Amino acid sequence: MANNSISITVSDDDTEDPSGRMRVRVRRKRKKPGPRRRLDFTQKIVTILLKWWPALLLLIAVTLLVYEAFKIGGGDSRSSPQVKNFDKVVTGGSGKPQGNLNRLDPTTRIVRGVRERCLKLLPPEELEHLDLPKDVDSFSPVKKLVYITENATYEEGKFNLSTEYLEGTRFNLFTGSQTLEQREQNFKVTETAGIHCGFYSDNGGYSISDEDKSYMQTCKVVVSTCAFGGGDDLYQPIGMSETSLQKVCYVAFWDEITLATQEAQGNKVDENHSIGQWRVILVRDLPFRDQRLNGKIPKMLPHRLFPNARYSIWVDSKSQFRRDPLGVLEALLWRSNDELAISEHGARSSVYDEAKAVVRKNKATPEEVQVQMAQYRLDGLPEDKRFDGKKALAEASIIVRKHTPMTNLFMCLWFNEVVRFTSRDQLSFPYVLWRLKGLTNINMFPVCTRKDLVNSMGHIRKAKPLTN
Ligand SMILES: *[C@@H]1O[C@H](CO)[C@@H](O)[C@H](O)[C@H]1NC(C)=O
Ligand SMILES: *[C@@H]1O[C@H](CO)[C@@H](O)[C@H](O)[C@H]1NC(C)=O
Ligand SMILES: *[C@@H]1O[C@H](CO)[C@@H](O)[C@H](O)[C@H]1NC(C)=O
Repeated sequence: MANNSISITVSDDDTEDPSGRMRVRVRRKRKKPGPRRRLDFTQKIVTILLKWWPALLLLIAVTLLVYEAFKIGGGDSRSSPQVKNFDKVVTGGSGKPQGNLNRLDPTTRIVRGVRERCLKLLPPEELEHLDLPKDVDSFSPVKKLVYITENATYEEGKFNLSTEYLEGTRFNLFTGSQTLEQREQNFKVTETAGIHCGFYSDNGGYSISDEDKSYMQTCKVVVSTCAFGGGDDLYQPIGMSETSLQKVCYVAFWDEITLATQEAQGNKVDENHSIGQWRVILVRDLPFRDQRLNGKIPKMLPHRLFPNARYSIWVDSKSQFRRDPLGVLEALLWRSNDELAISEHGARSSVYDEAKAVVRKNKATPEEVQVQMAQYRLDGLPEDKRFDGKKALAEASIIVRKHTPMTNLFMCLWFNEVVRFTSRDQLSFPYVLWRLKGLTNINMFPVCTRKDLVNSMGHIRKAKPLTN
């Protein structure tokens, strides 16, 4: 069904922080010389030195820092027990310098004059004793989600895919076809909510073997990632406790192209269906032409893929997860009684600014962004940069989540938006957050916490077919 002949990056690439670059640009503009032409050459040099010596110092300092960081990174990889077996796997084939790989050093920031860690994990001995909390029945406006499938007689057979299947949309047998009225209805929080949430038909694609399905049903806590279309290499997780190694499923979703590409590079899946810590799960019949959209399925719908999981952590394929998963759940969810934790956007705050940035960077066509934003304006999405004191714009390369009816509903709604409109999930996140009034236990953590959670490696783009 899917056209897989081209390798496309699956996840959204919007982690770059342009603030530094922009600041420099602005300064340069202001510095445009007027009558300074009369100064002679030496005076010019002196003036430049006087003006720019802090920048020069900074440059030297940064160079030294980067050099040190590389040294520390190397040292960590040697002293960490979890990583030593997998060096071959993670460096295979790409030929890119991977200076960030296997670093465990914490990210810190200064708060009121004191340097502190961005992610306040428990000490290692306490991490070893972490267990999932007892599931107390918390009050939730949504008690149960009913997922609409082909066979369900929802709304008197209002949708009939064979007639409604739908030129110019991305609705298909995987998504079903959500009408605009249903979309409206879905945002009204009711005790039993019926909603489209992928997996609409048995013939909808995203097929997984029965053996893998059985395995997925055993998972209570999942760390997952995906690479479709031959995309990114698999980075082995590091920094986990022995307890997490026992209790947490690490699952990487690959399609046949990624499998072939990786095996050609010598990254063979072993007899336990694994590469290092990752269980590799092969997905056939990806439902969308757009690989980015296929990537949203494991990213947003882990509650459909792992029906018995109570917690999940999504990690983008360009990142190496480097912290103890149970410790992360404790630090970002349990301690603050939150259900969903996600990073604030590093650069922008307003969804309308983000829409302009998406177009400017050619990450979606102006037309499709325009359609999405017009709908959001029509629905009354405000320009506010914050909702309930929380920054509206998120950067979703990591999603930490308790699976509850409310967070499941949130993810279904979000998925339906990326199917209906653009695949840029940062455009739909603030909208869903704003419209779904019931989800309040959300932890939007600062960018520096995200940096503590992962080593960001950047995407590796490979041309298909593989020639070397
Ligand atoms: C769906 O549409 C097809 C083709 O028009 C029609 O034959 C079929 O009876 C419809 N099914 C339902 C349940 O309305
Ligand atoms: C739909 O019904 C058929 C026949 O009763 C069944 O085999 C199939 O599993 C059902 N599909 C879904 C998605 O429930
Ligand atoms: C596969 O699993 C078995 C049983 O847990 C274990 O003994 C074996 O070493 C594993 N194989 C690999 C290659 O890790």
